[in-house]
Amino acid sequence: MTESRDTADRHTPVMLARCLELLAPALEVPGAVLVDSTLGMGGHTEAVLRAFPRVRVVGLDRDPQALELAGRRLAPFGDRFTGVHAVYDDIADVVHTRLGLGSVQAVLMDLGVSSLQLDEVERGFSYAQDAPLDMRMDPTTGPTAADVVNTYDERELVRILREYGEERYAQRIARNIVAFRERVPMTRTGELVQILRASIPAATRKTGGHPGKRTFQALRIEVNRELESLERALPASIEVLAVGGRIVVEAYQSLEDRLVKRAFARGATSSAPVDLPVEPETHKPYLRLVTRGAEEAGAAELESNPRSQSVRLRAAERLRPTPVHMRRREP
Ligand SMILES: C[S@@+](CC[C@H](N)C(=O)[O-])C[C@H]1O[C@@H](n2cnc3c(N)ncnc32)[C@H](O)[C@@H]1O
Repeated sequence: MTESRDTADRHTPVMLARCLELLAPALEVPGAVLVDSTLGMGGHTEAVLRAFPRVRVVGLDRDPQALELAGRRLAPFGDRFTGVHAVYDDIADVVHTRLGLGSVQAVLMDLGVSSLQLDEVERGFSYAQDAPLDMRMDPTTGPTAADVVNTYDERELVRILREYGEERYAQRIARNIVAFRERVPMTRTGELVQILRASIPAATRKTGGHPGKRTFQALRIEVNRELESLERALPASIEVLAVGGRIVVEAYQSLEDRLVKRAFARGATSSAPVDLPVEPETHKPYLRLVTRGAEEAGAAELESNPRSQSVRLRAAERLRPTPVHMRRREP
C-alpha cells in the first residue's frame, strides 16, 4: 500500500457525500476556492479536488504532522492545493493577507481531533494507553494537559471538568488531582486515569463508559482553547465568504454545535427593531440556513464509521455582506 493510501486509511471523513452536495452550488462557480479549515488527513479535501476539477482548496491545520501527511497525499493535485499551518480563527488573515484573496466561495469545518491524533499514543489524547500528558493539537506551542493539571487551582479544575466534560464527580477528581500533585507533578495519562478510577464510584464506572472519557475531553478542550477558537472562527469564516458562498460545519459535541447554531441563527435573523414598518437593507439577514436544524449521519454510516455517531452538521449560504453593525471587531 502506498503511503498516501495509508494516510487515507487513518481517518474516514464523516458525512462526505452530504458535504459535497451542500458545497456544490458554491463550488460550481468558475475559479471557486474552498478553505478546508480542518484539513486533518485531507479526506474531505481530496474528495472535493476529485469531484470539482476546477476548484482550488486551501487547507488549514494547527497540527504540523497532519499538514505534512495530507500535503503528501494531495501532492498529485499540484497547485490546486495549498496547505497552511494556522489556527482557523486566523482565516481572515490567511485569505486576505497570505493568499491575497478578497473572498472565497466555500468554507468547511470538520471539528475536533482526527483519528491520527487519537491513535498516536505519544500525543496523550487517549486514555486507553499510558503516555505523556500532552494533548496539544499543535505540539510546537502552548500549555500541555500536564501544565493544566499541575498549575490550575482546584476551583478552575472543577469548572473545566463540569463545563467541558459534564463530569458529575468533578469536585472529587479535582481534589484528588491536587493531592497527587502536592507530592509529585503529574506527567502521565496513566497517572490521571488511576486518579479517575479512584474518584468515580464503582457503580458509575460499570455503566458510565471509560472513567477517562469526560475528563480527557474537558482537558483537551481547555488545552487547545477549542471553544474560544471556534467562537472567533465562525464570524470570521462567514465574513470571508463571497455572496452565494457556503459554509458547512460538522460538530461532535453539544458545546460546539451550540456555538455553530448561534452564529448561523444570528446571520439568518433580521437585526431590525421589531417595530420598524420597513426592514432596512442594512438589517436584513446575511445568511440563509441550508440545513433544517442539525443533520446526523445515516444508518449505514453510523454502522461503518464510529466517528460519525455524534456528528451534527449545519450549513448556511451567504446572502449579502455582513452589515457593519453586525461585523466582528478586528482583534
Ligand atoms: C476531525 S479532523 C479533520 C479530518 C478531515 N476532515 C479529513 O477528512 O481527514 C480535525 C482537524 O482539525 C484540526 N484543528 C482542530 N482545531 C483547529 C483549529 N482551531 N485551527 C486549525 N486546525 C484545527 C485538528 O488538528 C485536526 O487535524
